[in-house]
Amino acid sequence: MRSYKVLTFGCQMNEHDSEKISGVLAAEGLASARDVEDADLVLVNTCSIREKAEQKFYSELGKLRLLKEKHPSLVIAVSGCIAQQEGDRILKRAPFVDIIFGNQNIKDLPGLLSSLDAKRPEALTEFPEGYEHFILPAERRGSVASFVNIMYGCNNYCSYCVVPYVRGRERSRRPDDIVREVESLVASGVREVTLLGQNVNSYGMGLDNKDGGVCNFPELLRLVDSIDGLLRIRFVTSHPKDLSDSLVEAMATLPKVCENIHLPLQSASDNMLLAMNRRYGFLEYMDKIGRLRAEMSDMALSTDIIVGFPGETEEDYDNTVAALRDIRYDSIFPFKYSRRPNTKALTLSGHIPEDIKAARLDEIIRIQNEITEEKNRARVGRVEEVLVEGQDRSGTPGRLSGRSRGGKVVNFEGDVSLVGTLVDVRITEGKKHSLMGEIVQR
Ligand code: 5AD
Ligand code: SF4
Repeated sequence: MRSYKVLTFGCQMNEHDSEKISGVLAAEGLASARDVEDADLVLVNTCSIREKAEQKFYSELGKLRLLKEKHPSLVIAVSGCIAQQEGDRILKRAPFVDIIFGNQNIKDLPGLLSSLDAKRPEALTEFPEGYEHFILPAERRGSVASFVNIMYGCNNYCSYCVVPYVRGRERSRRPDDIVREVESLVASGVREVTLLGQNVNSYGMGLDNKDGGVCNFPELLRLVDSIDGLLRIRFVTSHPKDLSDSLVEAMATLPKVCENIHLPLQSASDNMLLAMNRRYGFLEYMDKIGRLRAEMSDMALSTDIIVGFPGETEEDYDNTVAALRDIRYDSIFPFKYSRRPNTKALTLSGHIPEDIKAARLDEIIRIQNEITEEKNRARVGRVEEVLVEGQDRSGTPGRLSGRSRGGKVVNFEGDVSLVGTLVDVRITEGKKHSLMGEIVQR
C-alpha cells in the first residue's frame, strides 16, 4: 500500500481528526494521493450529526464500491462518528469495507493496517483511557492558520444531539501539552490557532496537579496569548450557559484573541430551550450578548439555529425569527431538526412535518442572507486588520486572501511575500460571503 486519500464529512473537529489520520498514515510511509482513483487506501471520516450527513456517507460508499469492483486491491476504511455509532453494522450494509474505527482509535490505525489480511474486519470503537493525552502527528492543510484540540467529548446531552454518544465524556488536554503544540506550530510558520472543543468554556474541568495543574479557559487563553510569534487566537464552540464574565474580560483584553464568537442559540423560545436541555433561557442568552458587545463594540457573532424541533409552535418559531432580526448575527448555521439515534428528543411528542420544517428553514436562510449582506456592505470604507493566508480562491498571481479579526474572508491585491503577516485593508465592496479591499499603509 503506497498512497492514501482521506474524504472528510462534518465539522472542524472532524477536519482536524482527518489531519491527524493523514499524519499517522504519512508516518507509516504512505503518500497523499490527489484523487480516490489514484489511492490504494481510501478513508472516509464520517459525520452523524444529522440524517443528511449519514445519507451522504452511504452514497459516497456506493461510489467506492464501484471503484473497488474495478480495483479489488483498494482498501476502504471508515472512521468518525458513523463508525463510532454503527460499528460492525456498517459491514451489513457495506461488506466491502475493510477497516472501521471510532473517534478515539486513530492511534490504532497502523495496527489495523498491518493486520488487514489476517482477519475479517471488525470495528474498533472503544474509548481508551487517557486518549486526551496521546499526541498524534498531524498533516495540517493550512500553513498560516491551524486547529488545535483543547478538549474532547461533551457532557451536555442536549436532547437532540448525538455528540455525547459518539465522542464520549468531556476530557481536557493538559495545558502544557497545548502550549507546546502551539509553540511548535508557530515554529513551523503558523500564525493563527483555532482552539477546538465541543464546549470550550468548560475547559479544564477534571484537570488536577498531575495534569500539570488546574487551568480554566480564560487562563488557557492567557497562556496561549503569551506565545511569541503567534498573531491570533480563535476558538469554537462556546456554550452560552458556561460563558463567564472572566472569558469576556479575557477576550476584551488579550491582544491576540479575536473579537469573534460562535455562540449557538438553537432557539429563542424558552419552551424549546427547555425541551432541548440547553440550560439557559433566552433572556440569559441576551444578557451574555450584551456583555460581549459592551466590552467589544465590533464583536463578530455567529450562531447555530434548529428549526422544527418537536413541539415548535408558530409562536416559538416567530420568537427565533425576531431574535435573528434583533441580534443581527454576522452569520448563522441553520438546520432542520433531524431525528438521531439514542437521543432524548426522539421520544418527545409533536414531531413537525417535513414541509413545515423546510419552509421555516428556507425563511430563516432568506432573512439571514439579507442581514449578512447588509452587514458586509456596512463594512465598506472601514480598515480591517487582515491575516494573509494565501492566494485567493481563483489562484490568480497577485490576488491574496485572508480573514479579518471578525473572521470574514477578505480578498485583495498584494504580493505573496505578505502571506503569514498582518496587513491593513480598506474594504471597497461587501459581497454575500466575503469582502473585497485594498491594502493601505500601516
Ligand atoms: N438536528 C438538527 N441540528 C442538529 N444539531 C445537532 N444535532 C442536531 C439535530 N439532531 C446542530 C446544532 C449544533 C450544531 C453543531 O448542529 O445546532 O449546535
Ligand atoms: Fe451536542 Fe449540546 Fe454537546 Fe453541543 S453542547 S455537542 S449541541 S450535546
